Amino acid sequence: MNIQALLSDKVNQALIAAGAPSDCNAQVRPSAKAQFGDYQANGMMSAAKKLAIAPRQLAEKVLQQLALGDIASKVEIAGPGFINIFLNPEWVAAKADQLISAPKLGIAAVQPQTIVIDYSAPNVAKEMHVGHLRSTVIGDAAARTLEFLGHKVIRANHVGDWGTQFGMLIAYLEKMQNEQAGDMALADLEQFYRAAKQHYDQDDAFAVQARNYVVKLQGGDPYCLQMWRKLVDITMAQNQLTYQRLNVTLTQNDVMGESLYNAMLPDIVADLKAKGLAVESDGATVVFLDEHKNKEGEPMGVIIQKKDGGYLYATTDIACAKYRFETLGADRILYYIDSRQHQHLMQAWSIVRKAGYLPERVTLEHHMFGMILGKDGKPFKTRAGGTVKLADLLDEAVERAHRLIGEKNPDMPAEEQAKLAQVVGIGAVKYADLSKSRTTDYVFDWDNMLAFEGNTAPYLQYAYTRIASVFKRAELDENQLTLPLTLSEEREIALATRLLQFEEVLTVVARDGTPHVMCGYLYDLAGLFSGFYEHCPILNIDDAQLRQSRLKLALLTAKTLKSGLDTLGIETVERM
Ligand code: ARG
Repeated sequence: MNIQALLSDKVNQALIAAGAPSDCNAQVRPSAKAQFGDYQANGMMSAAKKLAIAPRQLAEKVLQQLALGDIASKVEIAGPGFINIFLNPEWVAAKADQLISAPKLGIAAVQPQTIVIDYSAPNVAKEMHVGHLRSTVIGDAAARTLEFLGHKVIRANHVGDWGTQFGMLIAYLEKMQNEQAGDMALADLEQFYRAAKQHYDQDDAFAVQARNYVVKLQGGDPYCLQMWRKLVDITMAQNQLTYQRLNVTLTQNDVMGESLYNAMLPDIVADLKAKGLAVESDGATVVFLDEHKNKEGEPMGVIIQKKDGGYLYATTDIACAKYRFETLGADRILYYIDSRQHQHLMQAWSIVRKAGYLPERVTLEHHMFGMILGKDGKPFKTRAGGTVKLADLLDEAVERAHRLIGEKNPDMPAEEQAKLAQVVGIGAVKYADLSKSRTTDYVFDWDNMLAFEGNTAPYLQYAYTRIASVFKRAELDENQLTLPLTLSEEREIALATRLLQFEEVLTVVARDGTPHVMCGYLYDLAGLFSGFYEHCPILNIDDAQLRQSRLKLALLTAKTLKSGLDTLGIETVERM
């Protein structure tokens, strides 16, 4: 049920019938204030300009053509020519009633697209750190949302699994294996990487061997490939545990690391040269882009092959965009990468477009995000000033949640407390990230995210259990609710109307990759439910019809909350 789309169609038809040119848009949006109705059409002013008539006069004509049937109880013209639409509570009641038992809460079938989502993308032989949280969590919410709507989602974990550092990593792994400490050393990837680097910097023989291994690895030497595989597998097995803890849907099958595009790179460089896009410059191969200027105002050069023959991060991203269209059949390609890589992507994509690797209809979208900051407003660090490992962060989240839950529910069995601590702790960290507009930085604050009040995971998880408990106390099964849903109280109407907007919200998140819009909606919904629950008795009433109707509203709220939280990758429990 997408009311905005439904009303848009109807008002647009009326606008055309009123004489407006077909490229006019009625701009139907949810109203900002209740006094302006539930929806408003803001497009009369610009359409009237094209027709050279007064906006209010056009609005009058549109109203004469507008056939909303029983959808609206009132339509009025306001201000300079806005059209305010008030939904008819009887229509809202009937629609809400249908949603309760409809599959997927009644969301309409979409024209399915193939959507590649590039997210998480940690680096091999390094542990995931807090910097990977946003990409992983927001990207996964986008994947879940698009899948829920019926699209074909291809998760692409663009792991950093290639590059010259693998020479030193292989040389060090070999050394460790000779000393029979190979796997043990790999248990602490951070330490492993640092030690390898240290040997590389300090031991000449080791450095020579490392450089030798880079060349061999690039040449496809079986021994080097086997050692490389081991590094990749061990890293990704550790990361997989983090994904599971995070309730993130990525699997090992979604790994499409940089190495995957390796074989394509020589052809890409040759092709870009043949097309006259790439030129030799100081021995390197470079694409000069007029639309990206350096400080001196000259076209910026993107190096795609170094003097020594090596390829770069940009070359790989050119190949990977091509692959995602040609091989994976993408209609849309979404990248969840932090905003500092924006220029890199814009350059790579300029080249992709100029080379004609992707038709215009296939979109490349950088869904960028800002940084996580500490309370001091600087990038979030450990107390000692180091990068925060993601695994440590999650441990702390669960620990803190456990303490809170223990205080609140001392009588809850230990096992249940522990399970709940996972759901609440992990949910809190994820939700804190998801609920902020992704383009800006945000401050990481334990107390805020674990609060049971405000726009937090614990608040919503708790709201869900409260509604579930109403249902339990009613001792009724869903299919025993046979009487119709009716709306008479203001609070019932407000709640039901908001419930009908679930699909609209999903559509926005799917289009813009902005899960905070879903978070805001669910928070709003929980607040409306609270108001309704306080003022409209559900169980302590004799009127069976009213009782069932209100139970239905509670049921639809619970289902919508659960389903919405599910698109965010936030778990719910039945009791807390
Ligand atoms: N591995 C990179 C990093 O940690 C992110 C890769 C993002 N994806 C891409 N297609 N460039 O910064």
